[in-house]
Amino acid sequence: MLNRSFYLGSLKLPSNILCAPLAGCSDLPFRRMLSKYKPGLMYCEMVKMEALLYNQLKTFPLLDKDPDIHPIGAQLCGSNPKIAAECARMIEDRGFDVLDLNCGCPVDKVTKDGSGSGLLKNPEVIGEIVSNMVAAVKIPVTVKIRAGWDSTSIVSPEVTRIVEAAGAKAICIHGRTRAQAYRGPANWDYIKIAKEAATTIKVIGNGDIINIANAERMFKETGCDALLLARGTMGQPWLIEDIYNHFEGVPAKTRSPIEGRDIFLEHLEHIVAYKTPEKAHLDLRRVGCWFLRNINGAKALREAINRASSIEVIRKMIEDYPWHNCEIIPMSIKEETAAPDETPQSSPLREESGASVTKCEASLLVEESPRLSEEIIQCC
Ligand SMILES: Cc1cc2nc3c(=O)[nH]c(=O)nc-3n(C[C@H](O)[C@H](O)[C@H](O)COP(=O)(O)O)c2cc1C
Repeated sequence: MLNRSFYLGSLKLPSNILCAPLAGCSDLPFRRMLSKYKPGLMYCEMVKMEALLYNQLKTFPLLDKDPDIHPIGAQLCGSNPKIAAECARMIEDRGFDVLDLNCGCPVDKVTKDGSGSGLLKNPEVIGEIVSNMVAAVKIPVTVKIRAGWDSTSIVSPEVTRIVEAAGAKAICIHGRTRAQAYRGPANWDYIKIAKEAATTIKVIGNGDIINIANAERMFKETGCDALLLARGTMGQPWLIEDIYNHFEGVPAKTRSPIEGRDIFLEHLEHIVAYKTPEKAHLDLRRVGCWFLRNINGAKALREAINRASSIEVIRKMIEDYPWHNCEIIPMSIKEETAAPDETPQSSPLREESGASVTKCEASLLVEESPRLSEEIIQCC
């Protein structure tokens, strides 16, 4: 249940409602929006260890953060224990409060060298990397995994024991396997058995926490110590506050379309302030789709934003839209037919597009806005 003084080692977090690393999404403007709703911790997008060491020009922007927004975590992705300590020190030196190791990314490009969910095939390597990180830094080290490579090789209890022994302070389990990608619901039993295997390490439940009911169920059914929100915050950053308030016994706020508009406009201004006009323009179509997919009556606006010629036009369209005729509908996550591509910063996709648009985001949008998705895929 809600914990207003949640500890990772000696680091006290203001709550145990945490926000996930989201490649291509959890950039600085996104995190500025999340921070309004006071998550216990937010993670930046993952960065490849090799990229951190050898391609800093492209990698450091992924770690951009505001000096006054804390606590903040960085996530490293890699499979080479020999460089883990140096990378960990770089993260600590950049002022991060928490360091996470990615053992969940399902993309072939990442798993082919044994990184991301590829590490689930070699849990002892996870232990080695975590030991090296823990020995190198004072900040708490956490680990984020999928439950296993496939349903015949569930390793969430085993990895929990290994990383606990290696000195990690928390393990987050996304209750899906690598083979499952995003098909079907997350299986929270994989989180429950990890919690049962844990002695001192905190267990963070992740997967399908898109509303208050799921947040409550996640705690009850798994016994986990904390929640990690991911897709549920895309276009509804207030979910963090709604969940927090629910556990505090504060009646749920009714979120009106007008409020949705204002929050969308606020996110727009953060994007415009942070990105080049070209990147901001592209980004707004993607972010607009998140905000508008949960608003009944906003289809026309979504399509118009998709065709708009400039940021100024988009801003005006949002301001002038007849929001009073719309209503916010409960979020649902459409099933994926393929693995969302948690594309890292070094991907050709990102380089070719020149924008932080990833295939995974496009695939998330297919159901909501076929035309937008097609365009994004073409852009990529
Ligand atoms: C677009 C996108 C990007 C993601 N990027 C990362 C990432 O960089 N690192 C990571 O550990 N997980 C990443 N994930 C996985 C999420 O953090 C989370 O584990 C997953 O979406 C399940 O939670 P949910 O069902 O609440 O969305 C990503 C997921 C999506 C949809």
